[in-house]
This record gives sequence, structure tokens and C-alpha cells, in this order.
Amino acid sequence: MRKIDIFDTTLRDGEQTAGVNLNAHEKLEIARQLERLGVDVIEAGFPAASPGDLAAVKRIAEEIKNSTVTGLARSTQKDIDAAWEALKDSAEPRLHVFLATSPIHMTYKLKKTPDEVIETAVQSVKYAKQKFPVVQWSAEDACRSDLPFLAKIIEQVIEAGASVINLPDTVGYRSPAEYGQLFQYVREQVPNIHRAKLSAHCHDDLGMAVANSMAAIENGADQIECAINGLGERAGNASLEEIAVALAIRSSFYQAESRLELKEISRTSSLVSRLTGISVPPNKAVVGKNAFAHESGIHQDGVLKEKSTYEIITPELVGVSSNSLVLGKHSGRHAFRSHIQKLGFEPGEEQLNTLFKEFKDLADRKKELTEEDILALLLEHKIQP
Ligand code: KIV
Ligand code: ZN
Repeated sequence: MRKIDIFDTTLRDGEQTAGVNLNAHEKLEIARQLERLGVDVIEAGFPAASPGDLAAVKRIAEEIKNSTVTGLARSTQKDIDAAWEALKDSAEPRLHVFLATSPIHMTYKLKKTPDEVIETAVQSVKYAKQKFPVVQWSAEDACRSDLPFLAKIIEQVIEAGASVINLPDTVGYRSPAEYGQLFQYVREQVPNIHRAKLSAHCHDDLGMAVANSMAAIENGADQIECAINGLGERAGNASLEEIAVALAIRSSFYQAESRLELKEISRTSSLVSRLTGISVPPNKAVVGKNAFAHESGIHQDGVLKEKSTYEIITPELVGVSSNSLVLGKHSGRHAFRSHIQKLGFEPGEEQLNTLFKEFKDLADRKKELTEEDILALLLEHKIQP
């Protein structure tokens, strides 16, 4: 099995979610939980962005010992110096430096020629390597870059000392097949690529961030960048929990695994949601409130007979105590009886028929029935526990 490094960017790209602003204390609390979750790399922030962020990254770098801590820098000495100031006391100082490589970004944003971009990238990596033992280099907007140019700049930044090469789908534009081909291309066309790890960083603008990340794994990525609850710029980054579980339950397909403690996933998601103020949609895979809730009678009956009929992930795997059978108008007799039994009641067959009929009438009027509704029904019919 190949080991995939999980690089969590909740505290950097995740903090770029519109409306999110974490203070140093909140960042540290999340970093501690990410360490418990077992992420390999925590991107704690962007030290040059503000004195507060520099201080937060520094505090995290000093305390966290079981995950590598990194910070982002643009390709300038000022940014790299700020990152060094924040990260120098970490167990293994690691820098994440980036520069855009697509014609759109080079022309309109950087206003540099391709040769100037190569020169800037190489100089930034060389400068960073004077201080940092590990330098990750990202080709921002890699997915809209000219492929031979991308191969050329990657070869040169590896020569300059970069040991992790990240190929971000910055604007969430590619399909899984295309993103996979990009990894294949780089592996085949960059002669010194064996000296670096390859990393994926996907945005969710077209809802394909997780699928693209999994395609990268299939095509040789060694590191996946992702964020808790899929937070991040615009539509967000690939969500860590979905990648983690897909990798765990399909490890024989991917022939790869992570070292994550999956049972920490649910509480990590709740913590991040509470501290960022961004709630998790109920239908979100793995961590949504409905991820393990069965509504229809057919599904509830199946799950009561054998969970694997409709559950590919056990709730316990990600730290959720149990699944739930939601009582509503689609619920069947089997689930209704099971609920009543859990409440400690054992009505006879005839009583159950009457109760079930009244329950269905009520369910037509009310979307989701609560325990109180069922207890009221039992009380009305004078049924004792
Ligand atoms: O999306 C992106 O390209 C980024 C880089 C800074 C890695 O977040
Ligand atoms: Zn990003």
C-alpha cells in the first residue's frame, strides 16, 4: 500500500472562506484537533498576511509535534522571512511557496514573461532552502498552464531544492480524467520528478474537488491537500473527511492509505463548524446530520435487517455513535415498532396497527416526528411501558 500524506489547509485556504476569521486561540484549538486526527501536514496560515497570523502560526509551530507545521509564502524574500520567523521553532520547518504559471495569471496578475516567472520561482526556492529543510513549491493555476512550460519550471525548482511539487486546480476547472492526466504528464515529462513528492490541491467550483483529488491519487500523487468541511476560497477545497473515508473504505481499489484516526472526524468537523461559524449542510457526505439517517420505509426495513444494505460507511468509523431512523411519512411499520421498543413499550399487534395508522396520519401533517410525538400517541392510547 502506498502511504498518502494528508495536508490540511483548514487554517490557511479554509480561513479564506468568505466570512471566516479565526483568532490565534481558535487556530491553536483546531491545530491540536488536527494533530489528534493524525494529519501529516498542517498549513497553519499565511504569516506575511498579518502580524496576528504570523503570531498564530508561530504558536502552533512551537506546540504541535506530531504533525509537520507549514505556512504559505509568495515568492518574495519578505514573505519567506515572515514564514521563517513563524516556523523556525517547529520540529521540521517547512515552507509552502507558490507562483502562478498560467498565461492568464502571468500576463494579467504577475505582469511577467514566462522566463521571468521561472527566474522568480527558482530564486525564491533557493532563498527558502538557505533556511528551510523542506520546501514545497506550488504552481498556482497549474491546470490552465501550458504543459511544456509547467514541466520546465518544475524541473528547475526541483533543481533549486523543492522536494514537494503541488499542482493546484486553483479555479476548480478540471475533470477527474484531465486532472489525472496532468499528474501522468508531469511524472513522464519532468526528468528529476523522482526527487520530489507530487501533491494535489483541488477547489470545488464545479463540485469535483474530491473526485479530482482521488484521480490524482490514482495517478501517482503522494500528498493531498484538503480542508475540514470542504472550507476554502469561493466554493472551497476538497473536503478532508470525504477523501479520508473514500481512501479508507476503498483502499484496495486505490492501493493507498492514510494514517488518519478516522474516529476523530466527526468531532473535528463540529469543532471547525463551531469556531468558523460555517454550518455543515445536513446532506454533506460523512459529516452532515443526515449522513447516517435513513428516512424511507424500504431503507429503514433494510437497515434494521442488515445495516450494509444501505450503509457503506459505519457511523462508528468516523466517531458518530449510531445511525438514525428518521420517523416521517415514508417510514414503515418495522422502523415504527423498533422506535417504540427502544422507548420501552411493547404494544400488541392490534394496538400497533392502530398506532401505526395514527402515526401515518400525523406524519402527513408534520415533516419529521419527534420522540415526544410518539410518546404522546402512546399516552393517548394508555399504553404502559
Ligand atoms: O488554490 C491555490 O492555487 C492555492 C495555492 C496558494 C496553493 O491555494
Ligand atoms: Zn487553494
